[in-house]
Amino acid sequence: MASKSKILVIGATGYIGKHIVLASARQGHPTFALVRASARADQPPAKAKLLQDFQAAGVTLLHGDLYDHGSLVSAIKQVDVVISTVGFLQWKDQTKIIDAIKDSGADIKRFLPSEFGHDVDRVNAVESTKSTFDIKVQIRRAVEASGIPYTYVCSNFFAGYFLPTLGQAGVTGLPTDKVVILGDGNVKAVFVDEDDIGAYTVKAVDDPRTLNKALYLRPPGDILSHNELVSLWEKKVGKTFKRVYVSEEEVLKKIQESSVPLNAIDAIHHSPVPLNVLIYAIHHSVFIKGDHTNFEIEPSFGVEASELYPDVKYTSVDEYLNRFL
Ligand SMILES: NC(=O)c1ccc[n+]([C@@H]2O[C@H](COP(=O)([O-])OP(=O)(O)OC[C@H]3O[C@@H](n4cnc5c(N)ncnc54)[C@H](OP(=O)(O)O)[C@@H]3O)[C@@H](O)[C@H]2O)c1
Repeated sequence: MASKSKILVIGATGYIGKHIVLASARQGHPTFALVRASARADQPPAKAKLLQDFQAAGVTLLHGDLYDHGSLVSAIKQVDVVISTVGFLQWKDQTKIIDAIKDSGADIKRFLPSEFGHDVDRVNAVESTKSTFDIKVQIRRAVEASGIPYTYVCSNFFAGYFLPTLGQAGVTGLPTDKVVILGDGNVKAVFVDEDDIGAYTVKAVDDPRTLNKALYLRPPGDILSHNELVSLWEKKVGKTFKRVYVSEEEVLKKIQESSVPLNAIDAIHHSPVPLNVLIYAIHHSVFIKGDHTNFEIEPSFGVEASELYPDVKYTSVDEYLNRFL
C-alpha cells in the first residue's frame, strides 16, 4: 500500500484549518502546521491550547508566514500536499503559495487553495459579495495556469456558522418566537459539520478521483430547505415559531442600501455591520438563488464526497441540532 502523503496546512490555527489539521493526524498522515510567530508568543489561552492539542496529536509545528517566502519554501519542501485555509484578507495572496510551490522544486501532489464554501465558478451572488468570491475565482485560474495538481473543496455552509441561528441572517441565536426566512423557504441548502469537512478534505488528497476536480460536500442528511430546518427544530423543542418570509425584492433592497465598494472591504472587515451585509448576500445566494444545490455535479468538473467516502460517518443536521437542546 502506498504510504500516506505528508500534509502541510497553511492557516492551521484558523476556524476550519484546525479541523483539517486534526483530521489529517487522525487519518495517519504526517501532518505539518504552519504557525505564525504571533500565534506562538503571547498567544491567547485558546490558541496555546490548540497548539498543545496539535502536538499531542503528533502534528509538527513549523514557524512561518505567508509573507515570508523562505519559510513557505522550506515548509513546502517537507511535504507532498499543501492545504490552504487562510482567511478572507489573505485569499488574493495565495499566489505566494503557488510561487513557493514552484520555487521549492518539491513534487507537490496536490494543492487545495482556501475554498471551503460555494462553488465560486457557479455562484449567483450579488455585489459586493460577487466581487469577493471573484478573488477565489482568480486564485483558481492561477492554480490551473501553474499546472500544480489541485482539488477545490466546496464544503457549502459550515454547520457551526449557520445552525446556531437556525439559518437566519443577522441574528445571534436560536429563535424564541419568530423565524425570519429569506424567499419562500423551499430552496435546499447544505450544512456540514466542521469535523466532517476535515475528514472529507483529507480523504480527497491522495484520491485520483478528486485530481483537478471540485469536491462537493452534499451528504444527504445535511441537505435541507429553510422550512425543513425550522420544522425539524420545532419538532425537537415541541414549539411552533411564526415564520416571517422576506421577498427577494426586499432582500436585494436591504443589500443595496447598505452595500459598500469592494475596495472598502479591507478597512471594514472587522466591523460587524458591513460584514452583516456580506452575510445577508451569502444567505441570498444560498436560500433564494439555491447556489449550493441548483446544479448537477458533472463528472467532467466534480465529484460528491459522501458518495466517494461512504465510510465517513458524518453528523447529519438532525443530529447536530441535538447539541442545542
Ligand atoms: N462555508 C462556510 O460557511 C464558511 C464560513 C467561514 C469561512 N469559510 C471559508 O473558509 C476558509 C478559511 O476561513 P476561516 O474562517 O477558517 O479563516 P480564519 O479563522 O480567519 O483563519 C485564518 C488562518 O490563516 C492564518 N493566517 C492569517 N494570516 C496569515 C499569514 N500572513 N501567514 C500565514 N497564515 C496566516 C491565521 O493564523 P493566525 O491564527 O496566526 O491568525 C489562521 O490560521 C476561507 O476560504 C473562508 O471563505 C467558509
